Amino acid sequence: MGHRITVDNAGESFECPPEKSLLSGMESQSKKAIAVGCRGGGCGYCKIRILSGEFETKKMSVKFVTHEEQAQGFALSCRVFPRSDMSVIAIEEIQSGNPYAKKNVTSKIS
Ligand code: FES
Repeated sequence: MGHRITVDNAGESFECPPEKSLLSGMESQSKKAIAVGCRGGGCGYCKIRILSGEFETKKMSVKFVTHEEQAQGFALSCRVFPRSDMSVIAIEEIQSGNPYAKKNVTSKIS
């Protein structure tokens, strides 16, 4: 029996069993709310902010999630394992390929 994971800003939710990472659980249900990269904590693309719920994390590189960010609920979804239903936000700017880009970047169309 999985936990219900809701990605608030994407309006999507999926079931994730405790032995799977959030990213893996999402992928196994063909959802795309969170950006998928290396699946192993090495790229930072899958970064999320956890709003509520209980979870465990595997070691995360401070290169992608600083200690300060961890304290604020940021995490790499490929390193997060749910222990209850959870509510998270996908960090959209990661999907642009720049983890440190500001959210209000205007795109140029030529
Ligand atoms: S997918 Fe690369 S850090 Fe999670």
